[in-house]
Amino acid sequence: MLNGKRILLIVAGGIAAFKSLELIRRLRERGASVRCVITAAGAQFVTPLSLQALSEDRVYSDMFSLTDESEMGHIELSREADLLVVAPATANILARMAAGLADDLAATVVLATDKPVLAAPAMNVRMWTHAATVANVETLKKRGVTFVGPNDGAMACNEHGPGRMSEPEEIVAAIEGMLTAERPPFEKPPFEKPLTGKRAVVTSGPTREAIDPVRYISNHSSGKQGHAIASALARLGAEVTLVSGPVAIADPTGLRTVHVESADQMLAACLAAGTVDIAVCAAAVADWKAAHPAASKIKKKAGSEPPALELAPNPDILATLSNLGAKPGAKRPALVVGFAAETENLVANAIDKRKRKGCDWILANDVSAAAGTFGGEHNTVHLISAAGVEDWPTLAKGDVASRLADRIALHFSRPPKAEAAE
Ligand code: C5P
Repeated sequence: MLNGKRILLIVAGGIAAFKSLELIRRLRERGASVRCVITAAGAQFVTPLSLQALSEDRVYSDMFSLTDESEMGHIELSREADLLVVAPATANILARMAAGLADDLAATVVLATDKPVLAAPAMNVRMWTHAATVANVETLKKRGVTFVGPNDGAMACNEHGPGRMSEPEEIVAAIEGMLTAERPPFEKPPFEKPLTGKRAVVTSGPTREAIDPVRYISNHSSGKQGHAIASALARLGAEVTLVSGPVAIADPTGLRTVHVESADQMLAACLAAGTVDIAVCAAAVADWKAAHPAASKIKKKAGSEPPALELAPNPDILATLSNLGAKPGAKRPALVVGFAAETENLVANAIDKRKRKGCDWILANDVSAAAGTFGGEHNTVHLISAAGVEDWPTLAKGDVASRLADRIALHFSRPPKAEAAE
């Protein structure tokens, strides 16, 4: 907990600034007060009004504001905090901090502070690996600035690699490490990712059900959402097994991927992953398989009728994992999350599906052609739990994944009482 701790959050200009809004909420949930300073570039990404609404405090941006200076000089601003957090810390603000510049309020505040500083870098992978940034980060570390992240992953600029800002939950964990541990403030915090020690299994992609050795039944799932969820859980420290059907995308780094074809194989691989804390079923499992797949290619015979295809139901992986506790020796994951891809009555059908499958949460998404979810880059989802329905904004699939991973980390960080209310 961060009861009574005062955080001065400096928001610089990067696409990750939207995550700083969530960071403010997380910090306040834990009892901290947050006061924000925003750079001119930062204000291009999030509005001072959003920061003000979430922090319920005045937002500071102007070094030469007579009112601000008379009420709260920039030196006081930096001193009236227990910790300064620069998030997102762009290449530019890190360079200004390293050079000791005081060319705007944000840089001045960091230069004038006698409090510990935490930076959460966020930038394009080439900017992060550039010798100039590497040197600036080294300089700042030597001077006692603590860093959290960046993470590896897909970036807004369509590149892949280190440069993604840490997730709000990771930044909160770093802050808690710095402010609550009994040790000198400038020492590196014993930073733990919030899902460290948790095991997860994630299903992703389509399944492929053989009709004969060359033909199969499948669907359009790209695996993008499931793979992104597996990565996001791994970034937060979980030990992840990704069980993937046939997809055209690469295996994510930092986790184990098991490749399967059919629903039967997918279920077997999930069970073979052993006891897990978290199961996320994002795969688009084929509902039916060929009842009697042919061992050799079914031949076309001139003049004869096309063969009839008899179908048999596939196992329901989500329902099986949700009901694992029923069998002795098999432990149900503490949190089972499914998806409901619907084209109509989205939320009502998903609420019903949650009950039918016996899972804890359902992420409901609209897969009508107009929504462009299948194969697309974005997803608009609603999180359905026993507590009710959370409507999420339209987000890139990577951000849906990060948000889900954050929610899962939050779920496991809550005391058992709060859990029961969900
Ligand atoms: O029943 P429906 O296919 O709509 O349910 C969707 C959810 O159930 C998804 O989370 C999907 O991964 C999971 N599912 C499954 N095994 C099946 C069918 C669906 O795990 N055979």
